[in-house]
Amino acid sequence: MTTKPRLLTGDTPTGKLHLGHWVGSLENRVHLQDEYDCFFILANMHAFTTRMDKPEEIRQHTIDIAIDYLSAGIDPQKSTIFIQSEVPAISELCFFFSMLLPYPRVMRNPTIKDEIRDKQLGDNYPFGFLLYAVGQVADILAFRPQVVPVGEDQIPHLEMTREVARRFNHLYCDISSHLADEEHLAAGGLFPIISPMIGRVKRLIGTGGPNEQGQLLKMSKSLNNAILLSDDPDTVRKKVMGMYTDPQRLKPTDKGRVENNPLWVYHEAFNPDKAWVSEAENRYRNGEIGDVECKKRLVDVLVALIEPMRQKRLLLEKDMDYVRSVLQEGNQRANAIANETLELAKTAMRQVF
Ligand code: TRP
Repeated sequence: MTTKPRLLTGDTPTGKLHLGHWVGSLENRVHLQDEYDCFFILANMHAFTTRMDKPEEIRQHTIDIAIDYLSAGIDPQKSTIFIQSEVPAISELCFFFSMLLPYPRVMRNPTIKDEIRDKQLGDNYPFGFLLYAVGQVADILAFRPQVVPVGEDQIPHLEMTREVARRFNHLYCDISSHLADEEHLAAGGLFPIISPMIGRVKRLIGTGGPNEQGQLLKMSKSLNNAILLSDDPDTVRKKVMGMYTDPQRLKPTDKGRVENNPLWVYHEAFNPDKAWVSEAENRYRNGEIGDVECKKRLVDVLVALIEPMRQKRLLLEKDMDYVRSVLQEGNQRANAIANETLELAKTAMRQVF
């Protein structure tokens, strides 16, 4: 048993993780492992909301992300990695929680709206697509965590989580609906009113430059503008050297734009040599330094970050028994806590017979 505060977060397996995941949340997770009792959920059921016809792919992506976690420095001695579909208490809680959210409230969730638009789901999405947002509430509350580190796009789901926790505590634990969030547990509420924790880079742009509307798109594997944590040095080099920078700048003596230029966004996010970055940015603005030189530097910086992870990944891929044993043990630890929460919830809801 540990007395550390609990942390829960995770990913929907949609492919291998990239640099946006790293600065958005993964880096935080690696560093918080000593301070918090960490639970990382591989949300494979959520992947079915849009890819129910690709079960084998979802299975592979789930394993890929587990390997990404371990390669990036998540330590299974300290932290728990588990698979959503192996923890049935989450789904049972989801059913009860879905009664605490009016249907129009779920439809007003901005992340749900954005996803319907961006993934061009029209009005043909399955019922379970809406349910996944409630499912995420259950993923979180099943563990009654203190903190939930996520990317900025997940904030609306965390707000719904807070609402469900307040309502549950009010309806079933006699907590006044006016009680301050941080007082719910001490007053006998079952669920904490969780607080989000955002990574140091809220939304990392991709390598591809703006779309036709002039918007900078976030890094995403499906948009083909991502540098993966599993890319080999040659792939990193090709992606960086071919990357969008400042389209107005045709030669090194032209004045360059630094803002919203992936070259500099990435240097700022990943280059530990801050002095070089700010000086080079000035020279770039004045047309005193070439793209190629700055890109080469960036390749070195990114390879230094990614290559140790990739080496670790190569070892893990040869030891799948170990990876499976990490997941099995994680599922057990996760079930112990989620089952305990479910029992407490049923007791509060007067459904123990
Ligand atoms: N929806 C999250 C994403 O796509 C993944 C996720 C599922 C999650 N359940 C969670 C994140 C619970 C934090 C907490 O990235």
